Amino acid sequence: MKGSHYAVYLRAREHWNTRFNDIHVPLSYLHGRQLLLAHPAADADVVIPAILLHDVGWKSIAEEDQLRGYGPTVEDESLARLHEVEGARIADEILAAVDYDGRQRALIVAIIDGHDTRKESLSEEDALVKDADKIWRYTPVGVDYHHQQFAIPVASHVAWLGRQIERWFFTERARQMARIALAEVEQALAEVGHV
Ligand SMILES: [Fe+2]
Ligand SMILES: [Fe+2]
Repeated sequence: MKGSHYAVYLRAREHWNTRFNDIHVPLSYLHGRQLLLAHPAADADVVIPAILLHDVGWKSIAEEDQLRGYGPTVEDESLARLHEVEGARIADEILAAVDYDGRQRALIVAIIDGHDTRKESLSEEDALVKDADKIWRYTPVGVDYHHQQFAIPVASHVAWLGRQIERWFFTERARQMARIALAEVEQALAEVGHV
């Protein structure tokens, strides 16, 4: 990991120990790196810190309230918004603390402030962050975690995920990665009955 990204990582990870973020964010980081290979013109110095920092705001929301703010049925939109606002604030503080470039810092904060509730993308970097945020849902660990947490039978959850690919993702590479990951899950289900 590049030194300037590592400095952000060290501070960002202090905020990951809630929800499933200590699994979700590292996976999103790896997916983001793969997406960047297909989008070499995108600024990795915006995309990578934005991914590392995008969900730090969940730490500001009590764990018993978090489940109402995400998932197939969001019961309380204000919680989804709150984790973005808090995340943008904390990210801005962290980027200032590591003396990150001011122009890139502003772009990162703008991406985080809307990474879930803003349905359009602001830029190629924003699109890559949004896509990297969602691919993990298609991996065995994401499928297993979510279907249990949302109390949805795994087969129904997998079928639902398949129907979201076209509308969720902004880039063709992300759709391809999601389809490949889901195919692995479907194969495991067919072979052994669980992910
Ligand atoms: Fe989020
Ligand atoms: Fe996320």
